[in-house]
Amino acid sequence: MILITGGAGYIGTHTLVELAMANYDFIVYDNFSNSSEEAIERVSKIIDRDVVYEKGDIRDLQKLEEVFEKYSIDSVIHFAGLKAVGESVRKPLEYYDNNVVGTIRLLECMKKFECKKIVFSSSATVYGDPKTTPIVESFSVGGTTNPYGTSKYMIERILNDLYIADNSFKIVILRYFNPVGAHKSGYIGEDPNGIPNNLMPFISQVAVGKRECLSVFGNDYDTHDGTGVRDYIHVVDLADAHVKAIEYLNSHKFSSEFSVFNIGTGHGYSVLDVIKTFEKVSEKKIPYKITSRREGDVAKCYADPALAERILGWKARKNLLDMCKDSWNWQVKNPDGYKEK
Ligand code: NAD
Ligand code: WQD
Repeated sequence: MILITGGAGYIGTHTLVELAMANYDFIVYDNFSNSSEEAIERVSKIIDRDVVYEKGDIRDLQKLEEVFEKYSIDSVIHFAGLKAVGESVRKPLEYYDNNVVGTIRLLECMKKFECKKIVFSSSATVYGDPKTTPIVESFSVGGTTNPYGTSKYMIERILNDLYIADNSFKIVILRYFNPVGAHKSGYIGEDPNGIPNNLMPFISQVAVGKRECLSVFGNDYDTHDGTGVRDYIHVVDLADAHVKAIEYLNSHKFSSEFSVFNIGTGHGYSVLDVIKTFEKVSEKKIPYKITSRREGDVAKCYADPALAERILGWKARKNLLDMCKDSWNWQVKNPDGYKEK
């Protein structure tokens, strides 16, 4: 059975669906600090079976141990964490405590129960401002510009040190690029609190009439139209990467048990590209204004995902049109998200 920390969140819920489709058993562990039980209910509807879950914090070692005693857990997909970049600058201790200390508690518990397989949610943010694009996994990491990014970098280092000390651990680190979109059913999707920080949910809320105008953060970058370029990846493709990572960890074929993979499409799209595509699928005009650059933003960030294809047999299948279409479908069907969060 797989323990899914943070399984009630945006990426977690989509991963539950893909795992269920691949016939994996799992149990969700989440403190619901940024999600709701309603999200779990929605997953149950999609997969047509109950989702087993326990409410708990990854920093609560006693509760974690109870869960490991109760269920026979052989691997962990570790999503749980706080993820708002701006908030992390204001609340660094909270972020390091939740993300870094939380991961240490989880790893201690795994060690105690001889559970040695883990897939960890890292981020392209660990690359900081890359010298060139596309980004390959061997690029230097650690030039992070905020506590959120630094917490991901620290956890990567901790996992690496743990593997050096105990190479019976089998560790896969997935560095996600920019997850967007939603399950095609429209039952689950991204449900940000308050004003969205990220581009796609902001555009969706403008399109549905919740917000008046999008601010485009700078049009003087060295990119094809001057606006920032990112590697947007459909959340269902991203979820599938976790299924492939679990398959990989369960197989005996791999050459190394500590691996890092970029999870992106390999295509970079600008802010204006995303706006245009969203307008096309939603048939809504997205009013926008060009404002100054956002601090900490880089001009271009997109992946070379070849390693994941070669080793995990994973490749993104959905394009920007699919991403905008599914984000829009979720937004229209759930203008206020899961509501009860
Ligand atoms: P999310 O906030 O929707 O999901 C995270 C889940 O973890 C939530 O359900 C939250 O309640 C839970 N959680 C947080 N702290 C916890 C704790 N201490 N104990 C137990 N549960 C806790 O975020 P998401 O977008 O689904 O991201 C999942 C993971 O992927 C995170 O680690 C995030 O940093 C990482 N990531 C996300 C993105 C992105 O853009 N969404 C990009 C790169 C990496
Ligand atoms: C995308 C582009 C903005 C909002 C963040 C985190 C990263 C990862 C993914 C977790 C940029 C522009 C945005 C807006 C805009 N998360 N933009 N107006 O910054 O690439 O990555 O989410 O790990 O760590 O930093 O994503 O969606 O915020 O921005 O013009 O209102 O859209 O400048 O070029 P980002 P984003």
